[in-house]
Amino acid sequence: MTMPAPESPDVLIIGGGLIGLATAWRTALRGLSVTLCDAAPGRQASFAAAGMLTPVTELHYGEEMLLGLNLASARRYPGFVEELREAAGGADPGYRESGTLAVAFDNDDREMLADLHAFQRSLGLEAEWLSGGEARKLEPMLAPSVRGGLLVASDHQVDNRMLLAALFTAIERDPRVRIMRANVAELTVANDRATGVVLDDGTAIAAGQIVLAAGCWSGLLRGVPADVLPPVRPVKGQILRLTVPSVYKPFLTHTVRGVVRSNHAYLVPRAHGELVLGATTEEQDYDTAVTAGGVYELLRDARALVPGITELPLVETRAALRPGTPDNAPIIGPTALPGLLAATGHYRHGVLLTPATAEAMSEILATGEVPEPVKPFSPQRFGK
Ligand code: GLY
Repeated sequence: MTMPAPESPDVLIIGGGLIGLATAWRTALRGLSVTLCDAAPGRQASFAAAGMLTPVTELHYGEEMLLGLNLASARRYPGFVEELREAAGGADPGYRESGTLAVAFDNDDREMLADLHAFQRSLGLEAEWLSGGEARKLEPMLAPSVRGGLLVASDHQVDNRMLLAALFTAIERDPRVRIMRANVAELTVANDRATGVVLDDGTAIAAGQIVLAAGCWSGLLRGVPADVLPPVRPVKGQILRLTVPSVYKPFLTHTVRGVVRSNHAYLVPRAHGELVLGATTEEQDYDTAVTAGGVYELLRDARALVPGITELPLVETRAALRPGTPDNAPIIGPTALPGLLAATGHYRHGVLLTPATAEAMSEILATGEVPEPVKPFSPQRFGK
């Protein structure tokens, strides 16, 4: 039997992507009542994503601090999904320990991967250099021209849509959480403290603490003082979904990331036959049109790595918006406005960082203490 959530919850979460939903679930486990507001929860970037859990293969220069949080969240995944499976009555969250193979298309691309490998090793990360032949032995569908690559046995994947479904089920089973299918129009502030929100239809809800987890829309909320608004911007990604008919299985067993004439492409094979191809990176404001050029580039680069994809049915094209930040790192913790917290700006790593963010946020909401691993990602680091 579910009880109605209190009119004024302890915590109100704005945004029903993976970050908002997982924060709601973990926060309710701490005994707090939670209301989550989103007109269409789980339908934006969290739905579009490929679900790569690849802190080692997606390593970037200058992001060593973020690497620590990414690795911690990747390590937490197996336990997180097992707890979620139990909370969701056995629903499979879609976690798969598939490993990741990063491959190079031509000699210049191989140089890029060799640089990445040297950087990985300088940080003590494990990645095994393979010749083209060794890579093809692992993945026979790779093109004969593939010049070699890196096997990262610890980089895995999760089916983000199964993860969303499991989180919805866990939340529906928890009487402390209420999902309101409505958009928040405005934050209410009294005496220099966030006190609640007003929904699009004018309904006012008071709450003890408010979490801004609205992805790339987090910087647009009315009522938030300008110097408190998180500096997030939309970064468009176009992404495709293909199906592997059973006659072709197993098509790929690892996640394959490729560098093709300096472009990055990835192919993520699901256990149930879906193959996700991604993704473009475009600064196009809030535009989410799927373009002929975007689809062409994705198919061109994926085909250069795995020619057999041209035989597969193309079942979905989609564009969504990553929440980018000035330093490519997430924004997690209390803002400068008492009562208002942020869990946003996860850019390329929202799915990967879901466990670490949700657990840090639930700790902060329950105790007021900011856990050490997320301190560098404070909303207050950007100054005025
Ligand atoms: N992390 C994959 C992407 O952002 O496209």
